[in-house]
Amino acid sequence: MRSCHGGLSGLEPLSGVKPASCQSLTGTALFLWAAEGMTLALAVPPAGEPPAVCGASPVTSPWPLLSVLSLALSHGTKCCGFCRRPGEPPLDLGSIPWLGHALEFGRDAASFLTRMKEKHGDIFTVLVGGRYVTVLLDPHSYDAVVWESRTRLDFHPYAIFLMERIFDLQLPNFNPSEEKARMKPLLMHRDLQALTEAMYTNLRTVLLGDSTEAASGWHETGLLDLSYSSLLSVKGRLWKLLSPAQLATRVDRSSWLQSYVRHLEEMGVSEEMQARALVLQLWATQGNMGPTAFWLLLYLLKNPEALEAVREELKRVVWLAEQPVSEMSTLPQKILDSLPVLDSVLNETLRLTAAPFITREVMADLALPMADGREFSLRRGDRLLLFPFLSPQKDPEIYTEPEIFKYNRFLNPDGSEKKDFYKDGKRLKNYNMPWGAGHNQCLGKNYAINSIKQFVVLLLTHFDLELGSEDTEVPEFDLSRYGFGLMQPEEDVPIRYRIRL
Ligand code: HEM
Repeated sequence: MRSCHGGLSGLEPLSGVKPASCQSLTGTALFLWAAEGMTLALAVPPAGEPPAVCGASPVTSPWPLLSVLSLALSHGTKCCGFCRRPGEPPLDLGSIPWLGHALEFGRDAASFLTRMKEKHGDIFTVLVGGRYVTVLLDPHSYDAVVWESRTRLDFHPYAIFLMERIFDLQLPNFNPSEEKARMKPLLMHRDLQALTEAMYTNLRTVLLGDSTEAASGWHETGLLDLSYSSLLSVKGRLWKLLSPAQLATRVDRSSWLQSYVRHLEEMGVSEEMQARALVLQLWATQGNMGPTAFWLLLYLLKNPEALEAVREELKRVVWLAEQPVSEMSTLPQKILDSLPVLDSVLNETLRLTAAPFITREVMADLALPMADGREFSLRRGDRLLLFPFLSPQKDPEIYTEPEIFKYNRFLNPDGSEKKDFYKDGKRLKNYNMPWGAGHNQCLGKNYAINSIKQFVVLLLTHFDLELGSEDTEVPEFDLSRYGFGLMQPEEDVPIRYRIRL
């Protein structure tokens, strides 16, 4: 029997959740925010001031994530008031009425879900803040979820809920499917090259722009700080930089942002709101790239053998290119695609640090087929959650010593990309899922990969980079941030760098 703890009608998600400094938020970026599961809630300041980031600062996290989590997961919950049906996954209600497992879930989702998996197996339902969440942890069965039609398992209701309830935002005629159709050619096909070039120009300017300052010896900074500020292409003054008037005068603006401004204008969104939406868009889409670059560089700095292998590859591919890299206005796609060692390092970094929740709303009662032949009933209105971080990414059956960074884990002995990984004797299709998979796989994947590689190539080519001290350890994760995309470190890592003359 499903127990019947009363649901909270008229739940007010904003009360007690929104930091005082956060005002109303706007932008289709919220759709992406949900898409990437990031915890970037931006406070939009009065015009002329840089934006404050609520709960999204690289290290400190004033946002009460637990509340967000339980409230977000509690969207639309009604008192169940009905019995458990045959064929449903094992149910675990926890010990606290209505809240269920929300506290443990919010504190450290990975440990909680590991415990549940040990108890119930790779599919179970838990009560979290009034919401029944069915968790699936068998990677062989993920395709049945991520390729299911939207009429049965939908990614969008959660995104819209976040926009409307958590961020108090209503965009006129907002339609996630249209938004996606609009973005797809910009991010994936037509404009990818232009985007990549714009990113390279920005990165060169940010990293090498002030050569007099850069040339004057060693500089000390935090690695996360460096990664974030570089990959956001601007140092702090996002707000000013992205106001429509400024944007119109910038030569290296990306056509993607231009098209987004046009779209907002067509929607009748005011200038001020447009600037806010752009800030959010930038953070929401690029916010995972900073932490990715941070972990990647840190793993390289902590593993001299890996760093040497990447440098050797760069020497072969980049430094021997027809034109010296210092003279290139962009890194050609051909070069970006010829870096298997760096690809392996990136995949390994994401395997260890990307921990998004892949969530789908159950739109109709349905039977979920598992790869081993079992079938489980899911109820309309419940939520389905995949957590690839636990399996496949950290599964010891798939990856030996899964906690350890091995730079060549995704390389075959002949240097090509390794794609064959096994569980239960069967080859896995989804063996690493930092970008999700299926219908809602990350639209920005290629752009993000290009940008991160450009950043690493530029850094390793033009700079000497060292850890602040030899005993610097890889910091622990901030455990409250599972589910929001890339994990964040508990603290930044001091490094020093100088331009290579
Ligand atoms: C390291 C960087 C990034 C990571 C790890 C990442 C990861 C993800 C994940 C896990 C999803 C959700 C998959 C799902 O729920 O099924 C997603 C969706 C999405 N991402 Fe990313 N992302 C990154 C960067 C970007 C960038 C730079 C952009 C755009 C410029 C972007 C645009 C999107 C969009 C539009 C979706 C929604 C797709 C849909 O609606 O079907 N992402 N991303």
